[in-house]
Amino acid sequence: MVYSARTLSLLLAFSIAIVTTLFLSLVEGVERSALFVAGVISFSASYLLTFVILEFLIFREINKIYKMIGKLKKKELSGIAKQKGGALNPLEKINEEIFSFATLKQKEIDELRKLEAFRKEFIADVSHELKTPIFAAQGFVHTLLDGAVNDKNVRTKFLKKAAKSLDGLDDLVQDLLTLSQIETGDIKMHFEQFDMRKLCEEVIEQFEEKAERKKIKLRLLADNHGKYNVYADYKRITQVINNLVSNAINYTPDEGEVNVSFDVGKKNLTTLVVDTGEGIPASHLHRIFERFYRVDKSRSREKGGTGLGLAIVKHILEGHNTKAEVQSTVGVGSVFSFKLPRSKGEGEQAD
Ligand SMILES: Nc1ncnc2c1ncn2[C@@H]1O[C@H](COP(=O)(O)OP(=O)(O)OP(=O)(O)O)[C@@H](O)[C@H]1O
Ligand SMILES: [Mg+2]
Repeated sequence: MVYSARTLSLLLAFSIAIVTTLFLSLVEGVERSALFVAGVISFSASYLLTFVILEFLIFREINKIYKMIGKLKKKELSGIAKQKGGALNPLEKINEEIFSFATLKQKEIDELRKLEAFRKEFIADVSHELKTPIFAAQGFVHTLLDGAVNDKNVRTKFLKKAAKSLDGLDDLVQDLLTLSQIETGDIKMHFEQFDMRKLCEEVIEQFEEKAERKKIKLRLLADNHGKYNVYADYKRITQVINNLVSNAINYTPDEGEVNVSFDVGKKNLTTLVVDTGEGIPASHLHRIFERFYRVDKSRSREKGGTGLGLAIVKHILEGHNTKAEVQSTVGVGSVFSFKLPRSKGEGEQAD
């Protein structure tokens, strides 16, 4: 049997009309024609009333809910539009509840899909990056085992190459560990006051030899005013400067220049790492902070890069509520800069 609004209203109206007529027939002196008229009136009035209530207030809303549930089952969540209903109808609330629940679930599903895609891509990238140094070291060790070990010259050369590949592997694993620890919040920032100028001097000292090999002028442009005190995590900011200076030297051709300088503001100190290197095309600029992203994969791999340096920089700076800015012109050079809050220290002079 089909329970439509019409059938139900007909049945109800019919029963009401019969009951009313029967009651009236018990009253003395009521004529047959009057009974008939009363029956017809009560039938039509009850039919109209019940039909309107059932059809417009209940059945229509329930159908909407059914349709929505059908879509939910078919996972066509994005196709669901917000339902409009009369303010009088209590079922409209249920409808709205289901709608907001569905949109919430859709958001969660989208997020999970994105994470899943990211996870797959990440595993593919990591395995690819691990494969290269492992494969190289494996090759050298096997060649040695196959007899090259007896030749003293070749032995040292191959062992050195294997060691270099394993060092690269170690660097890569360390970078990955740092990234994941920062992301999971296992590494807490240890904020303290320190002199940014001294930190940069120390980093530059470490890179002097590397810069000399490429005849690159590596300089720190800062006077001795003691205005460079900042409040940040010393170890992590050292890592940031390390990565930025290392990139600047790596991606600057021989005889170029790399300068580290400062811009002292009222509240913040901006540190700038400026190079006269190859630059980064505008189309790549927004992606260079992604993990494993390299502008020229083959060339930066030659330089030993895995594309993790700037991802680490981004995460560390996010932990300091700041971010790295880049300006770059292909063939002219790049400027990487970031701000840190200044803290007044000894030797501080008025601005
Ligand atoms: N100063 C720069 N000049 C030109 N290109 C740069 C510079 N810094 C970064 N890049 C580009 O951005 C990419 C990402 O840099 P990032 O430091 O994250 O990775 P990497 O240097 O390739 O490897 P890693 O730092 O992990 O050893 C580099 O591969 C390079 O193409
Ligand atoms: Mg790098």
